[in-house]
Amino acid sequence: MEFSIKNGNPEKQLSDCLIIGVFEGGKLSASAQLLDDAAGNAISTVVKSGDMSGKIASILLMHQLPNIVAKRVLLVGLGKVSELNTKEYLKVVRAAVKAIPSVAKDVGFYLTELAPAMTVHEKTAQIAEIFSDATYQVNALKSKKPEAVALKKVAVFVEKSEEAEAKSALTQGLAIGEGVKMAKDLGNLPGNICTPTYLDKQAKQLAKDYGFKVEVLDQAQIEELGMGAFLGVAQGSDEPMRLIVLQHKKGKKDQKPVALVGKGITFDSGGISLKGGSEMDEMKYDMCGAASVLGTFKTIGELDLPINAVGIIPTCDNMPSGKALKPGDIVTSMSGQTIEVLNTDAEGRLVLCDALTYAEKFDPSTVVDVATLTGACVVALGQHASAVYSNKDAIAAELIAAGEFAHDRAWHMPLWEDYQQQLDSNFADMANIGGRAAGSITAACFLSRFAKKYDWAHLDIAGTAWKSGKDKGGTGRPVPLLSTFLIKRALNK
Ligand code: BES
Ligand code: MN
Ligand code: ZN
Repeated sequence: MEFSIKNGNPEKQLSDCLIIGVFEGGKLSASAQLLDDAAGNAISTVVKSGDMSGKIASILLMHQLPNIVAKRVLLVGLGKVSELNTKEYLKVVRAAVKAIPSVAKDVGFYLTELAPAMTVHEKTAQIAEIFSDATYQVNALKSKKPEAVALKKVAVFVEKSEEAEAKSALTQGLAIGEGVKMAKDLGNLPGNICTPTYLDKQAKQLAKDYGFKVEVLDQAQIEELGMGAFLGVAQGSDEPMRLIVLQHKKGKKDQKPVALVGKGITFDSGGISLKGGSEMDEMKYDMCGAASVLGTFKTIGELDLPINAVGIIPTCDNMPSGKALKPGDIVTSMSGQTIEVLNTDAEGRLVLCDALTYAEKFDPSTVVDVATLTGACVVALGQHASAVYSNKDAIAAELIAAGEFAHDRAWHMPLWEDYQQQLDSNFADMANIGGRAAGSITAACFLSRFAKKYDWAHLDIAGTAWKSGKDKGGTGRPVPLLSTFLIKRALNK
């Protein structure tokens, strides 16, 4: 799909479908008014007849209006004038995009003039992302392929003075949309296809497409590094493990990189501490941290961001077998710290701790790890916010602000010393679980012990990375948050 930023009156636009707004009570948006004047009140007549109430997200499609060049005009209800804030605005845009007739090849979007509380950047970027989202087709492994989307061109109309801002927002929004799509695709693929080897290939393809440096370590090289915790998780599976390292070096030479570390468990059965059967299929999504790192690299590559970034992905399956880790086993991490594995289902922290130690070698300015780490996080925050933990409040604040800006929200959780004692072990330096209470927090506490040498944040995305139920599928989160975080860092340097 091709997007453009344009400027010009709606009555003169050649288009398969123009999208305009009508408020509850019948007031027309400025563009709708222009069309109505040109078309001899055709729109206001329909509104008066009651066919379009203007109720929020209601829809009416009109054809062949007199004196209007466009073939169709899609009226979208905007609700009450006083109530059109950000949330309502996005609801309106989603409804409009969903209602675009499937035959339309090009559309003209005239809703950016609304919602004055939002910046032009915010509106444009969100429009780009909503379009990518609405036209997303799951790479479904169904024998009958879905029909191709007819829509090819989207013109977003803004005021002349807003054009520059809208153009840069569009570039960013589209690049984020690409990253989100990649993360969704990887998440949605089943565990028998999306294996560590598959992620390895994807990373190499990305590197080729965007000129990243890529290095992928196999089991022998991982043994060489002494990653006993990561190796422990992988040893139960026949699927070969990988440690994927991507580097984008487009910042100043002396600028320390930001490292993104993504949990890449391509299937989490729980291991010997086997999970229950219900919804176990969803554990194919346990590599969504890795997918979001790859997706964010795609965005960085698309934008060719002037920044130094490293992506580190420890990836393997967590399976039960005669060779698998057993509860009570003690492993030695790359850092030298020993870990008593009381529950083999707490495997994410075991693969991440070694990746966090490995990150030290890049002398990073900041390390952000991303993981579908705990069911407890879903209990705490549900599907609306990712959890943020950090050893530096300013970084948590920076990530949360990026998430707000990108409409991919996160919430600051405590990482107080008080919780650390829950990880005490009689036999090793620490246990890998901290009991039922505060499960997402104790998991973060565990990771913090391996992230002492740099500024670090941890995102628990267990609730946000995918949706369950009828609309089951990857969300691509937190690619918008991470990308925005890096964009802001790149621009502020
Ligand atoms: N991948 C899971 C976390 C998860 C569970 C994410 C459900 C989304 C939905 C993780 O590896 C795990 O199994 N965590 C355990 C930890 C526990 C054994 C301390 C959990 O949350 O139950
Ligand atoms: Mn697990
Ligand atoms: Zn897991």
